[in-house]
Amino acid sequence: MDLKSKIRVVPDFPKPGISFKDITTLLKDREAYVYTIDSLVAFCKDKGAELIVGPEARGFVLGAPVAYALKVGFVPVRKPGKLPAETVRYEYGLEYGSDVLEIHKDAIQPGQKVVVVDDLLATGGTALAAVKLVEKIGGIVTGVAFVIELSYLNGRKTLEGYDVYSVITYDD
Ligand code: PRP
Ligand code: MG
Repeated sequence: MDLKSKIRVVPDFPKPGISFKDITTLLKDREAYVYTIDSLVAFCKDKGAELIVGPEARGFVLGAPVAYALKVGFVPVRKPGKLPAETVRYEYGLEYGSDVLEIHKDAIQPGQKVVVVDDLLATGGTALAAVKLVEKIGGIVTGVAFVIELSYLNGRKTLEGYDVYSVITYDD
């Protein structure tokens, strides 16, 4: 399937020079959405995922259906101040800005195998934050999966040592 044709590229959003890969056009396309989730599921299954972790917000849209398909649990990584119980936090740099992410301290059992799922691998800052949060609370990250990888931003370098999968890659 030509998945790239389902992604809308919006120049200069959210600021000049950023070429935004809009997955809403893929998500609304039944065949493209099912194909995308199925390929993420295959990777996560291969990695023995016992839990899927997804970073707010777009990681929820991809991670939750993957967890459901695998019949495993889903754990949200959220922007600060959103999670009600005790959290651990991690600060990171983003393609355009910087941010903090949090996870509930009791979200993962020690030794549980986790795959982090998000829509996009750009610099890798968000995914690394999610990985570090999982590890801080005792989980084992067996893989990190994305719909889109922007290879020219070297996110794989940021995630060196982890098994990284992406459904679609943009090389420029
Ligand atoms: C976007 C995207 C990834 C991240 C990728 O999230 O959904 O999570 O940036 O960039 P990175 O690899 O450089 O970290 P964003 O924080 O813009 O917010 P959203 O998911 O809530 O829309
Ligand atoms: Mg995101």
